[in-house]
Amino acid sequence: MPDKKRRVTDFVKGGGPYVWVTAYDYPTAKLVDEAGVDGILVGDSLGMVVLGLPNTLGVTLADMVRHTQAVARAAPKALVVADMPFMTYETGPRDALRNAARLIRAGAEAVKLEGGSEYAHVVEKLVKAGIPVMGHIGLNPQRVLALGGFKMVGKTEEQKKKLVEDAKALRDAGVFAIVIEFVPASVAKEVTQSVDVPTICIGAGPHCDGQILVLHDVVGLSERTPSFAKRYANVAEQILSAVRQYVQEVRARAFPAKEHYRDV
Ligand code: KIV
Repeated sequence: MPDKKRRVTDFVKGGGPYVWVTAYDYPTAKLVDEAGVDGILVGDSLGMVVLGLPNTLGVTLADMVRHTQAVARAAPKALVVADMPFMTYETGPRDALRNAARLIRAGAEAVKLEGGSEYAHVVEKLVKAGIPVMGHIGLNPQRVLALGGFKMVGKTEEQKKKLVEDAKALRDAGVFAIVIEFVPASVAKEVTQSVDVPTICIGAGPHCDGQILVLHDVVGLSERTPSFAKRYANVAEQILSAVRQYVQEVRARAFPAKEHYRDV
């Protein structure tokens, strides 16, 4: 992809592989953008990796607005997509429109919502209003209570059929891309081949049009890295070491040193 601002229209079938990552604040949005990702998702995973919640259900629209503003302020070249949190679109197109508009006004260039054909009418309404939408099928973390945990989806023939149908329904409703989360690689491949919009996968193998990971898993800042994620750095270790050194230097009166303060 050329080194210019990414728009939803840049994400086309066959144009990948597209690289996506989450970010939730200004400094990390700046860094991941500089590293050259194509898309930044202000994911509701922030509830777990930033706010310490057990799942994403406690994330509010106000949380998403605040974090989207911070990411957008970094003025990334990457496309900025914000997640619609739990119960901000399930209640129907009118609520979805009002809530998506708040995320767009906060700086998002598209919104993402979880679910398949059952939300196609909501997607259609948003798209008709000029709000680009990214779909999200497979494991939908906002359904964690009903699913009984963060479990792989698509292992049965029936589930596989539903995933293909969901992808087609979302495509027909106008999504510009579809996230596929935690499904068998062969199923993600079949879904990818059955729609003409790019699929962006997490924990769903290599046969997709792009990949997305949670930043805290990539850099080693999350408490538990899922088996499908790859940790490329150990930032937790570096923070620990830096702050331990600071603690030790203050207690030893080694900090602040002469160069860190001024006298009148
Ligand atoms: O919230 C999030 O980070 C996500 C990704 C896992 C796709 O939805």
